Amino acid sequence: MDPLVTAIIETFRASFGAEPALLVRSPGRINLIGEHTDYNMGFVLPAAIDREMFFAISPRTDKVCRTIAYNLNREETFATDQLEKTEEKWTYYLKGVIDQIQKLGYEFHGFDLVFGGNIPVGAGVSSSAALEAGLAFAINELYQLGIPKMALVQLCQRAENQFVGLNCGIMDMFASLMGDTDAVIRLDCRSLEYEYFPFTQEQHVLVLCDTGVKHSLGTSEYNTRRAECERGVAILQAHKPSIQSLRDVSIEFLQEHQAEFDPVTYKRCKYIVEEINRVVEACKDLQKDDLEAFGKKMYQTHEGLQHDYEVSCEELDFLVDQARLNPAVLGARMMGGGFGGCTINLIEKGAADAFIETMTRAYKESLNLDLVTHKVVIKKGTSRLESSNERV
Ligand code: GLA
Repeated sequence: MDPLVTAIIETFRASFGAEPALLVRSPGRINLIGEHTDYNMGFVLPAAIDREMFFAISPRTDKVCRTIAYNLNREETFATDQLEKTEEKWTYYLKGVIDQIQKLGYEFHGFDLVFGGNIPVGAGVSSSAALEAGLAFAINELYQLGIPKMALVQLCQRAENQFVGLNCGIMDMFASLMGDTDAVIRLDCRSLEYEYFPFTQEQHVLVLCDTGVKHSLGTSEYNTRRAECERGVAILQAHKPSIQSLRDVSIEFLQEHQAEFDPVTYKRCKYIVEEINRVVEACKDLQKDDLEAFGKKMYQTHEGLQHDYEVSCEELDFLVDQARLNPAVLGARMMGGGFGGCTINLIEKGAADAFIETMTRAYKESLNLDLVTHKVVIKKGTSRLESSNERV
């Protein structure tokens, strides 16, 4: 068993004097293409990865929740009917989920919980969604609530929006809960229909390059971008009331009305409309097994995020520019909300180690920063850890 899981179980025993009733794993996510499209009702193409959060949890007969964050070495006890914001910010994700399950009218008691994991925090691989998804899944299992998986996804998103206060889209929780081994998932964020596309990494691998720059989406530009997109929708809606989101807008229609936009709002909307179309085309590339064409679209996405959506930063741009110099890299781009975090790189399999070496050296030489890299494997979404022998 993963030594981390063993340590989490041991902490549970030492703190609560019993074996945990349930073990759950909940993964972080990558997104191949389709950035900032989820809250514009477009398409995304994420997958769950082998960087995970583990939960050891037992039910209780009262309302008390005794919670321990293993990595942070912090703990807090609260009650399910007293979900207050304290200084322990990590509890917001747990409390938000409890709050949302209660709002749906389900009844359950408190729990004893130890959780911890190996998902890099602030790297743009959604450790917070993994935390929410893992707890929602665990409560659903412990108390046999029978909440369908997609409803778990949605309640986790509401937890983040309403309790944590980040107005994020649905992609991260969806990927964490719905991921599958060796598959990326195209999600239509408007209809919530989804389709799995095989992605085996037999010939190409995915490597994340972490800038080490931490972003704080909550306080920042993320909500501003949403507002800019909404402003664009309002302008276009005046001409066509059926337009509900940028998903309903063609590039031609946007161009026709360019004069009514301020230049910034126009750029934002242009990127989104192009990106939504790009995901659709990129999925066709995948179906044809044309990863060269797919990779080119990843570079195009980065250009849009850098120049039009303006959510990139110097370190991300540097890493993408360096990746471009390497012929074994099919595509690279910043991933996630932006302003730091990782780039995602699609690389010929045999070339990954040399790539990592060159990138690490270049990052140090040019920016005097240490690059952390992750070769990621695509794994299934949030699930029970069935036995103590299961490999994790
Ligand atoms: C963050 C949000 C997601 C999504 C991405 C950008 O990860 O949580 O909902 O909007 O940024 O694609």
